[in-house]
Amino acid sequence: MSLLDEARQARDQAVHAFKEAADPKRLEEVRIKYLGSSGLMKSLMSRLKEVPKPEKPSAGKLLNEVRKALEEAFKTAKAAVGTAAPTTGPCFDVTEPMATEQRPVIGKRHPLTRTTDMLRDLLRALGFEVVQGPEVENERHNFDDLNIPQDHPSRDSFDTFFLTPKDGAKLGDALLRSQTSTVQIRVMETRTPPLRVIAPGRVYRPDKIDATHASTFHQIEGLYVDRGVSMADLKGTLQSFVEGLFGVGTKIRFRPSFFPFTEPSAELDCSCPACGGEGCSVCKQTGWVELGGCGMVDPNVFAAVNRARGDNAYDPEVWTGFAFGFGIERMAMRRHGIDDLRLFLENDLRFLRQI
Ligand code: DAH
Repeated sequence: MSLLDEARQARDQAVHAFKEAADPKRLEEVRIKYLGSSGLMKSLMSRLKEVPKPEKPSAGKLLNEVRKALEEAFKTAKAAVGTAAPTTGPCFDVTEPMATEQRPVIGKRHPLTRTTDMLRDLLRALGFEVVQGPEVENERHNFDDLNIPQDHPSRDSFDTFFLTPKDGAKLGDALLRSQTSTVQIRVMETRTPPLRVIAPGRVYRPDKIDATHASTFHQIEGLYVDRGVSMADLKGTLQSFVEGLFGVGTKIRFRPSFFPFTEPSAELDCSCPACGGEGCSVCKQTGWVELGGCGMVDPNVFAAVNRARGDNAYDPEVWTGFAFGFGIERMAMRRHGIDDLRLFLENDLRFLRQI
């Protein structure tokens, strides 16, 4: 078959194929076959050089016409395919919720972070400022200046993580803080009263891990020092705080207790958020759950701070204060009704996704 006959045949076939192409995918295949960079049209053009010289002009003209016809057919087909309403393919309901496995995975903050943020926001609304202290501490900040005597059991190496001393330094010069109360001392060392601060953060104790104990956990500490601060201020503050946390109407009570750095000291309980005080397994049928410790700052603590500062900025005759410290894990457990603290640490997504 001569080149010209082939060209005519190709034109007829291509025009037909363009007309038949029902969807964009098929149309593209046809375009590539006939008009693509290694398509039929290109190969016909390249064979023009084989045509004897006298016939070249007319052959060239015909090939040009064929190409134009193909381009025209392609254009027409494209317009038709592009505007045609889709007649095939699955139809879907845009109002139907997406299948779980197709939904994009959206991350969220860890439940402990969320509880910390909530406690922080509630206390900030009550006028407290957020401060921080180091997790690697020394004995003075973790014990001495908090009025914790040398023979107190919490100084025992089974109760506190002492870090291996370097350069022959004495044991106890560096330890992982066992309570956020250290931040009380650090803040008072650098600031003068009045002050109202909270310090959320991580603390460490070599406890055997079980449903209610971990060697690393979190506390939030509060300290308010001003003229004339009383136990009534402490109770009112904690009442608002607890109601913000568990809902208006939640009751609180103080149980007499002892902490070396507060005098008097109390244990704070609130009416059980799970049963509202009726008695259930969460509160062991008592109607109350324990939240943490609190009390009035012991004058010995002010004295220690004054010694470290070298002045009398915290004169106990002028200033009084209250302090409190709560376990954040415990708060989160109460909020979410969780009975095993280890769930917070295991990073099991099946758990984390639920709360
Ligand atoms: N630091 C105490 C603890 O870890 C908690 C605590 C009790 C903090 C009473 C306070 C407080 O500020 O006044 O057990």
